[in-house]
Amino acid sequence: MKSTTTPPKTYRVKSFGCQMNVYDGERMAEMLAERGIAPAPEGEEADLVVLNTCHIREKAAEKVYSDIGRLTKVGRKVGKEPLIAVAGCVAQAEGEEIMARAPAVSMVVGPQAYHRLPEMLARAVKGERATDTDMPAIAKFAALPERRRVAPAAFLTVQEGCDKFCTYCVVPYTRGAEISRPFSDLVEEAKKLVDAGAKEITLLGQNVSAWSGEDEKGHQQGLDGLIRRLATIPDLRRIRYTTSHPADMDEGLIAAHGEVEKLMPFLHLPVQSGSDRVLKAMNRSHTGDSYLKLLERFRAARPDIALSGDFIVGFPGETDAEFEQTLALVDTVGYAQAFSFKYSPRPGTPAATMDAQIAPEIMDERLQRLQAALNRDQLAFNRATEGRTCQVLVERKGKLPGQWLGKSPWLQSVWFEGDCAIGDLVVVKLGEAGPNSLAGTLRVPVEA
Ligand code: 5AD
Ligand code: SF4
Repeated sequence: MKSTTTPPKTYRVKSFGCQMNVYDGERMAEMLAERGIAPAPEGEEADLVVLNTCHIREKAAEKVYSDIGRLTKVGRKVGKEPLIAVAGCVAQAEGEEIMARAPAVSMVVGPQAYHRLPEMLARAVKGERATDTDMPAIAKFAALPERRRVAPAAFLTVQEGCDKFCTYCVVPYTRGAEISRPFSDLVEEAKKLVDAGAKEITLLGQNVSAWSGEDEKGHQQGLDGLIRRLATIPDLRRIRYTTSHPADMDEGLIAAHGEVEKLMPFLHLPVQSGSDRVLKAMNRSHTGDSYLKLLERFRAARPDIALSGDFIVGFPGETDAEFEQTLALVDTVGYAQAFSFKYSPRPGTPAATMDAQIAPEIMDERLQRLQAALNRDQLAFNRATEGRTCQVLVERKGKLPGQWLGKSPWLQSVWFEGDCAIGDLVVVKLGEAGPNSLAGTLRVPVEA
């Protein structure tokens, strides 16, 4: 049993992993702020630290334990150990073990239960330790406070969980079964985000294209119906969504890309591998070819659409020839950007016990080759947009005085100078392209 402590005055939320965790982290921060706890100033230790963890790839748990160790050590030095909460997917997967192994942790809270963090905190202050990994909980969203100030590019979780059970992935276990938040709740939350300063909303879900719900008139809608409704919010200027599975991309969503002007010309559609045998072993329910055909339909609806993907190299049994098929798929698509990972066996997933796990050196070599190809294509994509004039949403100040950083419709980072403010949608001519960003020139008149 831990001893009582004074209620925390400052907090820090450290989020790892995906954008959903960033969203969850923001919501936890808002709940703490609402209770009068302030964000810890930069460089200062916080009284309460929330480690919002990710379990998707390896060493996740080790990282959490080493973070906990560092926090307690620093705390001892300054004479006050912080209250520590472990949240996110490691909390969900290994909550009991964390409680047993790390006495410095007073709260373990899963991704579907973090609306109860304030109650857990009240108990932690009294010296009681608590674990809450209940799921799924649509109730969470109703219990969260209203959003008062958000960044111009905000996130909105519309769907959580996954029923796809790709054989390498922990998400169906840590985030649970697919649930869709109700249509009217999402429209309301989107309006509030816009009132709080959002110009762009990215709809988030582990399988966002599987979202479904009933609109105000009782009609069944898919993600495209939700997007079309959100596009009618006057001051919302841009809509994006992520992440999708090829199996859930329907005609309505494809058509929306050609018809809804506010829907940005960008599609993140993970493929994982270019080999049909590997895809089958991954339980992906698509082939390389069906994936390419799907992309063609998106390109037909929206010819300038920028494509993004996720890849795993070194899935158990992947041969050199199968890996070459992944490289061939990359060459065919010409991605604007992509994420690539070495396969990491996750405890409890079917792939973790498959034969023919691939040696680390081979994975390293494959990842390097894949990333070289993806980097080449990213630069080529950026270069191909040089000279275009487009709208850029100003997200933050740049490093130099008078410099700004924003995003193009194709999710490229664009630097430019001139007279504007964060949250403006400005017209910029894209100039010299680098691998990760482009220089731009502000065109007047500036559109607010
Ligand atoms: N090993 C490596 N990468 C993984 N991903 C998911 N699980 C694993 C794993 N066990 C990758 C996939 C997924 C992205 C979010 O993370 O590419 O699309
Ligand atoms: Fe994981 Fe596959 Fe679901 Fe994506 S679709 S979250 S990779 S199980």
